[in-house]
Amino acid sequence: MSIIINNSAEEITNQEVLSTHNYNDWNCDYLSDYIIQTHHQYVKNAILQIKPLASEVIELHGTKHSELAIIQSLFKQISNEMILHMKKEELVLFPYFKKLNQAKSDQTSVDRPGFGSVKIPTKVMETEHETAGIMMQRLSKLSNNFTPPDDASNTFRVLYEKLKEFEADLHLHVYLENDILHPKAIALEEVLLAS
Ligand SMILES: [Fe+2]
Ligand SMILES: [Fe+2]
Repeated sequence: MSIIINNSAEEITNQEVLSTHNYNDWNCDYLSDYIIQTHHQYVKNAILQIKPLASEVIELHGTKHSELAIIQSLFKQISNEMILHMKKEELVLFPYFKKLNQAKSDQTSVDRPGFGSVKIPTKVMETEHETAGIMMQRLSKLSNNFTPPDDASNTFRVLYEKLKEFEADLHLHVYLENDILHPKAIALEEVLLAS
């Protein structure tokens, strides 16, 4: 188990290093690829690790710590919604961002998309981010901000460590999309549709 704890610490350190990137200088194409390879991949891997860990911890501590069942159920809900959400980004939205970027490089125009303007799907994505954030906040509160109780086993501690890391990654992931990628794509589309 100590190996997993060490990995978590390393990932957090990596994330701190990554947050020093100057994301604002990156174009929509590069940012989209970066988010998929870094954050979407992280979410998919973390779900695979956290789900069995939660089942194991409930088996050991579920009777004494009733909050664990709610935490597990909330995490399942967050996971299911995140998987669907990321699929929409990977299959529809990010390819459109890349198309906008390509049109800018080629100095060509783009046809108005079926969804009218990129402002509409980005708004939908931002509402979904908010929903995931609210669920994650509830989870954090239930776990006393991911503080394991005194009687927690090593597995229990690892579960809270992983959930804490999941929340931190979600914050950065949402920040990159809401505050950098979406505004860049909206600005780019406005110029391209006008030309
Ligand atoms: Fe995403
Ligand atoms: Fe997103």
